[in-house]
Amino acid sequence: MQRILVTGGAGFIGSNFVHYVMEHTGFRVVVLDKLTYAGNLASLAGLPADRVEFVRGDVCDAALVDALVARVDAVVHYAAESHNDNSLTDPSPFLQTNLVGTYTLIEAARRHGRRYHHISTDEVYGDLALDEAARFTEDTPYNPSSPYSSTKAGSDLLVRAWVRSFGLAATISNCSNNYGPYQHVEKFIPRQITNVLDGVRPKLYGAGANVRDWIHANDHSAAVLAILADGVVGETYLIGADGERNNRDVVELILALMGEPADAYDLVADRPGHDLRYAIDSTKLRTELGWAPAYADFESGLAATIDWYRGHEGWWRPQKAATEAQYAGLGR
Ligand code: NAD
Ligand code: DAU
Repeated sequence: MQRILVTGGAGFIGSNFVHYVMEHTGFRVVVLDKLTYAGNLASLAGLPADRVEFVRGDVCDAALVDALVARVDAVVHYAAESHNDNSLTDPSPFLQTNLVGTYTLIEAARRHGRRYHHISTDEVYGDLALDEAARFTEDTPYNPSSPYSSTKAGSDLLVRAWVRSFGLAATISNCSNNYGPYQHVEKFIPRQITNVLDGVRPKLYGAGANVRDWIHANDHSAAVLAILADGVVGETYLIGADGERNNRDVVELILALMGEPADAYDLVADRPGHDLRYAIDSTKLRTELGWAPAYADFESGLAATIDWYRGHEGWWRPQKAATEAQYAGLGR
């Protein structure tokens, strides 16, 4: 494999993946990104110009997608509308990008006989009870809760159908909550870090008891490279790093690491339909592909992420006021 098309490569996880590919492989990358509110070219600054090409465009643009897919060996599809809260306010771009965009890419990959890897989320499985030991596996039935997760579930099912009906050489991965640099300030961890930097108290939805299974974005990237290299076509791989924590514990850790009192947060209105708990059993990925997380210690990964936001105010500041104004309108 020499050249990869990375959709959504100016977003959080996509840009981390492009950085990771530059450091750990000799591949060349073409990034296709629409630069929505969530995309930021600054996230790709400093990468080698002879190995990274940026194309601004829409994954729903069939002619553009066809021309780009024709030029590469493989496609890794990250582009999506990704934020649950936004999907509750206006689902329409989620249906367009997440469903029609995926359809457009898999049709092009099928026409050109290209390897395709589909980036998805553990949210397609719905949620787990707070007080049970069960975790999601590749066999858990789909049961998405939000407009966002239902469109991601639909996109996964499109890929599965294209594998079976058309022989598309595709794999799918469903990952848990990522953290790390370049994450938009609308998301939980960067929102709270930048609130504290601004002297504003972090905001916890509901009682803060909901559990997420945190993984560093670099561990996600390493898993995707392992699947591209050795994954079996037609298979799904769950990606998770045994990082379960409830939201209150995460906020208290952020406050402690930033030198603030542990109770210096506010409880705010809950998200409608808020999934209780996500937890990933990544046994298949670990045993079949030999992947293991490098960022096993959440506390030091979080401390490094806090340092990154401290040192990159110029990256996040332009989005902060508008994001908080949007949350204020929702009472969150
Ligand atoms: P993000 O919102 O930070 O980035 C999305 C990127 O896609 C942006 O750069 C945006 O400009 C681009 N984009 C949006 N619509 C587009 C379109 N129509 N055409 C081209 N580009 C478009 O998202 P993220 O958090 O980096 O998530 C990336 C992928 O990973 C998504 O598919 C998401 O479902 C999945 N995922 C995310 C997480 C997480 O914790 N954030 C966990 C598991 C899976
Ligand atoms: O599980 C994977 C998913 O993780 C991805 O598919 C999504 O793209 C990604 O956004 C993320 O979804 P969540 O809804 O879990 O992430 P978010 O950062 O929005 O919220 C994480 C948790 O924190 C969730 O329980 C809601 C809560 N929360 C969020 C915000 C923004 C708060 O308590 N306060 C907040 O201010």
